[in-house]
Amino acid sequence: MTTKTQKLLSLLNGQPVIPVLKIERAADAVPLAAALARGGLKAIEITLRTAEAVEAIRRVAAEVEDCIVGAGTILNARQFDEAVAAGSKFIVSPGITRELLAAAGPSDVPFLPGAITPSEIMAAREAGLDFLKFFPAEQAGGAAFLKALASPIADVKFCPTGGISAKNAMDYLSLPNVVCIGGSWVAPDDMVKAGDWKGIEALAAEASKLRK
Ligand code: 3PG
Repeated sequence: MTTKTQKLLSLLNGQPVIPVLKIERAADAVPLAAALARGGLKAIEITLRTAEAVEAIRRVAAEVEDCIVGAGTILNARQFDEAVAAGSKFIVSPGITRELLAAAGPSDVPFLPGAITPSEIMAAREAGLDFLKFFPAEQAGGAAFLKALASPIADVKFCPTGGISAKNAMDYLSLPNVVCIGGSWVAPDDMVKAGDWKGIEALAAEASKLRK
């Protein structure tokens, strides 16, 4: 296992589910992160899919002591650097590019990029990565697909995301090559919009009890 994977695993500290967040209003970031942390999900991924995402990361990093904030949907080196400067403790990307590998290489911040096919996973492995995101998990073949990779590529572990919810979470968590899963189901858009922090805390509490 690489040093950066070890670092990321120690940040995750056995947390089974990483909330994948799309934050439209930066003002929601702190109460949302605090609610998830109260529910037991301290490591979160704020995706750069909204205009206020970087500001949301900045606020959470500065104000929510309990939270380990990561950045997601990082598509290029500029976003990588911007997310790290905002205080991200880990960086997630839907895929792997040469530009991202060059940005991630010298950085101390762990990088969790996506890969699906055996060739993509082997290329990532050659680049020194042994913990990958498997995205979009359900659409790409689901738990059965990921299970089939466990024997031939046994030394690579995954965080599947995409189409995962409380219903199918255990299909993934029970696999030997899955460390944790990610998903947006613990912070649904309508609950965030309504500021239903208690409701989100309850969803997080349920998700945090899922066990490998
Ligand atoms: C991701 O970026 O990890 C996914 O968009 C999360 O997928 P979900 O919204 O289906 O959970």
